[in-house]
Amino acid sequence: VIKTQKRIDAICGFVHSTVIADIGTDHGYVPQKLFRDGKINFAYATDISDKCLDKARVNLKDYSSRTKFLCGDGLKVLLDDNLAQKNANLVPKQIIIAGIGAREIKRILAQDSDKVFKNFVLQPQKNVVELRIFLSKNKFKIVKDVLVKDGKMFYNIIVAERSDSTQKLSKMDKLFGKTNIACPTQDFVDYVNFEKDKCQKILHIKSVPSVETKLLLLNKIEFGGKNV
Ligand SMILES: C[S@@+](CC[C@H](N)C(=O)[O-])C[C@H]1O[C@@H](n2cnc3c(N)ncnc32)[C@H](O)[C@@H]1O
Repeated sequence: VIKTQKRIDAICGFVHSTVIADIGTDHGYVPQKLFRDGKINFAYATDISDKCLDKARVNLKDYSSRTKFLCGDGLKVLLDDNLAQKNANLVPKQIIIAGIGAREIKRILAQDSDKVFKNFVLQPQKNVVELRIFLSKNKFKIVKDVLVKDGKMFYNIIVAERSDSTQKLSKMDKLFGKTNIACPTQDFVDYVNFEKDKCQKILHIKSVPSVETKLLLLNKIEFGGKNV
């Protein structure tokens, strides 16, 4: 049983290419689901740890002829894999980087200095605001930015693509995610209420300026014209 199935399902829901690369695949749950659902023909399953990759090798054994396992750092391992000599059908069209901190994701994205890869599904484990700012500064367009609640945890999933222009994000987009602000889901409403509650509990005990500011911003979020 996968602990965070809803998170995995949500990530897979944003995959529309038949050849993908899952960077930091660990158990290989993302490509496993994509193969099972018949959404992909070929996957690159990569990890910096060979031990982690072994778990993916087991979970993806039914698809081993259609999976290339690569042990190495981020996108570098893919770029080093003679992509230029590959049949175009075997070049990954979507890159998934999930369950890794935003700072590491930023470092991994920066490895692709020639902008070989265009489409990404990112699920930063923390520091999501930093990732949004990085994407905006580096000419990535955020296509979707949604929050998913799985058990007691909240996960941000960002679908991004390279663009010729710089996408302007509002302060609220940077803090909470553009899709969440534009079309809030029940999971996002739950998140806002959860965060408000946390702030109020702290402010009940003592006055903390940063928490007061955060609560003010949370109170600005509107759902269907009404504040929650
Ligand atoms: C918490 S797991 C997430 C697994 C999977 N992506 C998911 O979302 O369920 C993080 C994995 O990323 C791998 N990892 C961390 N930094 C990496 C890097 N720079 N390049 C490749 N893999 C990395 C770790 O070894 C680990 O297996």
